[in-house]
Amino acid sequence: MELIKVKNPAEGAQKAFDIYQAALASGVKVLGLATGSTPIALYEKLTESTLDFSNVTSINLDEYLGLSGDNEQSYHYFMNQYLFNKKPFKKSYLPNGISDNHEAAAVQYDKIISENPIDLQLLGIGRNGHIGFNEPGTSFESTTHIVDLTQSTIDANARFFDKSSDVPTQAISMGIASVMSAKKILLMAYGIDKADVIAATVNGPVTEKVPASVLQNHDNVTIIIDEAAATKL
Ligand code: GLP
Repeated sequence: MELIKVKNPAEGAQKAFDIYQAALASGVKVLGLATGSTPIALYEKLTESTLDFSNVTSINLDEYLGLSGDNEQSYHYFMNQYLFNKKPFKKSYLPNGISDNHEAAAVQYDKIISENPIDLQLLGIGRNGHIGFNEPGTSFESTTHIVDLTQSTIDANARFFDKSSDVPTQAISMGIASVMSAKKILLMAYGIDKADVIAATVNGPVTEKVPASVLQNHDNVTIIIDEAAATKL
């Protein structure tokens, strides 16, 4: 794992931007993308840049079950708002949160991932170590699947909703094996709330109790953290 420590999230966004610029220059074809507050500053830098994504395919990690793309709380909406409306990609995939058949939608999403191997996967991290929506206890062998969100994740994401009862309790997420199949992985984490889980991810045992700890088994991982997130290392 390569650790890049930065002073603040703005500097982290710049470092991440540099990685994307280099990746595009080297001809990457498929980017795995993430939601959450952490990547927003990076997406702003990408949209303000002259980088061209018209030959690049994107594949997002996850989506809430029950939210359609025009729901402002959906990850589809988030991605359109922060990235795709301003920087169109050749093709952008997100898991379908409103399918009639979630199991079939998951199988279909794995087919998309296998047909479009991910060159660079972006990750945030939940306070409990989740990546995508792969909560603690998720098998490292998992592919795209339906997730029952933990109460801590529901609580953490309630800040984006008017009422906590509006937060969906399930999601469809790329699995850990799918994430690990990416050629390179970039994880960003900022703030004191992420300090414990960053320490567990980087220095703790590799365990399904901390999904992000699996990244120790990948040979091309970069982690960008600010000073606050680095305090327990
Ligand atoms: C959600 C997303 C994750 C994200 C996490 C952290 O649960 N499914 O992909 O990493 O939130 O979000 P934030 O970046 O806002 O801390």
